[in-house]
Amino acid sequence: MANKMWGGRFSSGPAQIMEEINASIGFDQRLHAQDIAGSKAHAKMLGAKGILTKADVKEIIRGLNQVQSEIASGDFKFSRSLEDIHMNIEQRLKDIIGEPAGRLHTGRSRNDQVATDFRLYIRDCLDMLDGQIGSLQKALAKNAEKYADVIMPGFTHLQTAQPVTFGHHMLAYVEMFARDRSRLADARKRMNENPLGAAALAGTSFPIDRYMTSRELGFDRPMRNSLDAVSDRDFVLETLSAASISAMHLSRMAEELVIWSSSQFKFVSLSDKFSTGSSIMPQKRNPDAAELVRAKIGRIFGALTSLTMVMKGLPLAYSKDMQEDKEPAFDAIDSYSLALAAMTGMVKDLKPNKDILRQAATNGFSTATDLADWLVRVLGMPFRDAHHVTGSLVAVAEKKNVDLSDLSLEDMQKVEPNITKEVFKVLTVEASAASRTSLGGTAPKNVAREAKRWLKKLG
Ligand code: ARG
Repeated sequence: MANKMWGGRFSSGPAQIMEEINASIGFDQRLHAQDIAGSKAHAKMLGAKGILTKADVKEIIRGLNQVQSEIASGDFKFSRSLEDIHMNIEQRLKDIIGEPAGRLHTGRSRNDQVATDFRLYIRDCLDMLDGQIGSLQKALAKNAEKYADVIMPGFTHLQTAQPVTFGHHMLAYVEMFARDRSRLADARKRMNENPLGAAALAGTSFPIDRYMTSRELGFDRPMRNSLDAVSDRDFVLETLSAASISAMHLSRMAEELVIWSSSQFKFVSLSDKFSTGSSIMPQKRNPDAAELVRAKIGRIFGALTSLTMVMKGLPLAYSKDMQEDKEPAFDAIDSYSLALAAMTGMVKDLKPNKDILRQAATNGFSTATDLADWLVRVLGMPFRDAHHVTGSLVAVAEKKNVDLSDLSLEDMQKVEPNITKEVFKVLTVEASAASRTSLGGTAPKNVAREAKRWLKKLG
């Protein structure tokens, strides 16, 4: 049997395999709320412009409300032979209200319909993600406040570099996630334009009011070019690229948690809620949640690549290829959202192991820069000379297998006779961290202040 929606010129129905490759209802049914909202806005506008009678509009709205509750209660039967969410809903509307259902599609096409639905969906996702990243930032900032003075090693090249504070490390991620939110907010601003009314590709001869549907659907304005309106998927691509950058941050953090929770580092303990055991090795405690966050991030990069590949060869305007925009985007946003939730849970329960962190911070001559700075400040040495003297002192300490602060004054004076015992004040990891009071530095007092500022800002 030919398709009921567009089968006028067809004498037979599609091949089984055609139906399989063509249908999108399996995945686009999740656009049902947006599709119904778009249809209601369109119907109301058609009524206001006298294109449909008030009575028809009333029936359409009543029918759409019923469809909505049938979908909500799980009573709705999605049918693959009706291809997609748009035709499934329209057909059901017809079953419920009869003839007026056929008037809903006046001055509209599935091309502007799907563009509208997907924009509304992505806009909801952007709002949801913004809230989720905000919760993660809050959890991080709370830890920063709590552990503002917990000393840990700061790394470059994953080699101990200088002492930092655990709170400072937490706040580094708060900054990254703030940029991520601003990128997503920027994408939201640009994407919030209405494609509805572009119809198939050329606009329509009906006297529609696109400002009215824009207002109704919360769009800032109608899109200005009908060809662009139906063929644009920049809003998905921008969301996926902003999400990719953010996902990369999430993955770096997950990687740190994997390293930090290992028995080699033991920097932090993850709670039981976010760890798993091994079925064979009873001693194991694995950071599976962190590993899965790290791995799931790949799907987001994958979706961005997949959609750029779909779009790059398409002539204007709509091509069916564009139906392939949804599955990767859904999967990417689901994964990203899940990863954010898991990371927030892990961060909330995270316990730094203070003694181990402090011990690790003293390894690797992490206060060597403080010694060099002291030579500059107190003895007036040029920094390059101070660097050289400090290097020699590190070599002495290394030979004796002790830390810089464990060298005797005589040891020091053998290398630089003007050194006094005052130098020992700057050689502890606490003194080192406390001295880093420059803007953006790791001093506990800076960190406490920044954490407070963030917590106030995050509300
Ligand atoms: N299911 C389609 C999609 O997701 C809807 C648009 C169909 N338009 C068409 N001309 N066949 O892209």
